[in-house]
Amino acid sequence: MPSRYLRALLRHLDIKFSWKNACICKETKDKMKTDTPRFFTTPIYYVNAKPHLGHAYTTITTDVAARYSRMCGHPTYFLTGTDEHGDKIVQAAEQQNITPKAFVDNISGLFQGLWPRLNISNDHFIRTTHPEHIKVVQSLLTKIHDSGDIYFSEYEGIYCYGCERFYQERELVDGKCPDHGTEPSKIKESNYFFAMSKYQDWLIDHIKTNPDFIRPERYRNEVLSFLKEPLEDLCISRPKSRLTWGIDLPFDDNYVTYVWFDALTNYISALGYPGGDLYSQFWPHTRHFVAKDIIKPHGIYWPTMLKAAGIERYQSLNVHGFWNVSGSKMSKSIGNVTDPVEVTDTYGVDPFRYFLMREMVFGLDANFTEDAIVQRINSDLANDLGNLFSRVLSMLHRYFKGVIPKTDSTLEAQKELSLKTAANQAIEAYIKAMDNTEFHKALTAVWEFISTLNKYIDTTAPWTLAKDEAAADELAVVITNMVESLRLIACLIHPVMPETAGTMLAVLGLEKTDANDFYTMDELKKWPFMKPGMPTQKPPMLFPRVDVEKPEKKAPVANKPPKGLKNLKPEITFEEFSRLDLRTGTIVAAEKIEKSNKLLKLQVNLGQEARQIIAGIAKSYEPETLIGKQVVVVANLKPAKLMGELSQGMIVAANGKKQLFLAGFDQSVTPGLPVK
Ligand code: MSP
Repeated sequence: MPSRYLRALLRHLDIKFSWKNACICKETKDKMKTDTPRFFTTPIYYVNAKPHLGHAYTTITTDVAARYSRMCGHPTYFLTGTDEHGDKIVQAAEQQNITPKAFVDNISGLFQGLWPRLNISNDHFIRTTHPEHIKVVQSLLTKIHDSGDIYFSEYEGIYCYGCERFYQERELVDGKCPDHGTEPSKIKESNYFFAMSKYQDWLIDHIKTNPDFIRPERYRNEVLSFLKEPLEDLCISRPKSRLTWGIDLPFDDNYVTYVWFDALTNYISALGYPGGDLYSQFWPHTRHFVAKDIIKPHGIYWPTMLKAAGIERYQSLNVHGFWNVSGSKMSKSIGNVTDPVEVTDTYGVDPFRYFLMREMVFGLDANFTEDAIVQRINSDLANDLGNLFSRVLSMLHRYFKGVIPKTDSTLEAQKELSLKTAANQAIEAYIKAMDNTEFHKALTAVWEFISTLNKYIDTTAPWTLAKDEAAADELAVVITNMVESLRLIACLIHPVMPETAGTMLAVLGLEKTDANDFYTMDELKKWPFMKPGMPTQKPPMLFPRVDVEKPEKKAPVANKPPKGLKNLKPEITFEEFSRLDLRTGTIVAAEKIEKSNKLLKLQVNLGQEARQIIAGIAKSYEPETLIGKQVVVVANLKPAKLMGELSQGMIVAANGKKQLFLAGFDQSVTPGLPVK
């Protein structure tokens, strides 16, 4: 018998399976390729704060993947939404003196209002306070409870109120919550548990036999490494005495269900599980997109919950890294939480989308700065793409009054100069990268083609051909090739820059000029596509350059330093500063100091003498990584004894909240030089 999956697919395609006819013909294979449905999801975001850069990134990335899927001809469904239950909501609502419902309506509204501004093409927006969602969560809980995988038990553990979760001792940093830096409380209470541990071996096997289940690979390995430790069962309830803003457990109304059981279920409740048409069409062809912070609930809780409920596993979990802003983690206290609305108002939606997709290697962390976005706009968008577009169209208008000329087919091959080969290579590389969630590589492939086209222009030199009447046919061929190339570029950038793609196509006199319309992969591969006689428009400036000196900003963007440094020490004069004797030093030996988890004993070469310096950097640096490092030493600091060890100076380091960063030099320096 064919696999269950294949049967479902054949049913979906309305193809009857019979052993007589067991060989699937090519036409059917092609149909299967494009007709396989794809369901894309973002996390549903907490409504305790307004949307920021990180939320925008995941949603834009998922949008790009969904738009690409539609271009490939797959029936596509794209879901996002908000996660609205929990203690934090109640507290935040109380602070504003409004009901939790009013509070969540407000912030959920900000998310719902943001997505159209960023051109997000989601098909649905789910809220966990929707009655339909609540019903599905309860039916799932009943199902798993009835099958015996939810049980009641007493639990004692360490609990962080900030995170609203229990921690394992080993997860704490110096006995404190790694996220909040606060000491968690010991709590003992009776609760309901999901027998997750029962599915540990099954999950390991599933991940190992399905290499694309969690990707990129580093995150697959991360989940497998979590699973090397025995899994604990998952506490899924909170007593109503402690939390009321949640979904009632269907089998005990003294409890509400807690966070993940509620939130993760959105992915099927939104499709109308169990009986909905969307559910039968799109589940389990699901591609979840999340960042690394919620890999555990998605990579471990969710598949085991599905298994326990007898539901097929999703297809893939696609995990990306974190955006830092100006080198630091986004945080309210640093004041660098970046508002996507402000960035978009300043630089435009498409440049923002392009920047995010080009700059981050999916899976790794990336850094957001204004300099970087300005650089990308001026170089990749204004210089490379924008100039190319107006260059080619200006020539079409100058030499052919803006109308696609008729071409002589005998000259076409002669003047093609491998442009079509380069186009095909770009398409191939683009598809490979997109299928692999390597969005930056897909864009690189398009930009390589842009550069090929620029070279083609320089090589064919239409301005010289235009001077020679006998070369009129050649000119028509090379200009048409250039316009075809622009069309292809416009089609390929659609998932990332839908508005720009639409504008380019409109100027080229083509259809599909709306940001939500597109040419399919099959259509865009056609060359020639443009018909002689088609009129085009004069080219607008696609991307104005951003003036680095005087950026025209409507609002400040987050990588500015916070207004006024906090706790700035009283002013000093230059003379006072000059009393410090700062020197270059090279660390020649480093070791831990027994009984101290903060201090390292360093031997530092200052040129004419060696110093022993006791530095409080043990939490940020392993001793062996320090040997040979060049540092800045405060050489005239009065010696002091620390943990019984003499310290003759101090090393200069930047003090991050959780980490120290040693100051250094951009080139190798002689030890003992004064530092001014
Ligand atoms: N409500 C849960 C998710 C439930 S899904 C069933 C939640 N919400 S959240 O508001 O905290 O969103 C977390 C997600 O926001 C991350 O997984 C990621 O998608 C996005 N990001 C938040 N900060 C981010 C960065 N600094 N960088 C990139 N994305 C980040 O967790």
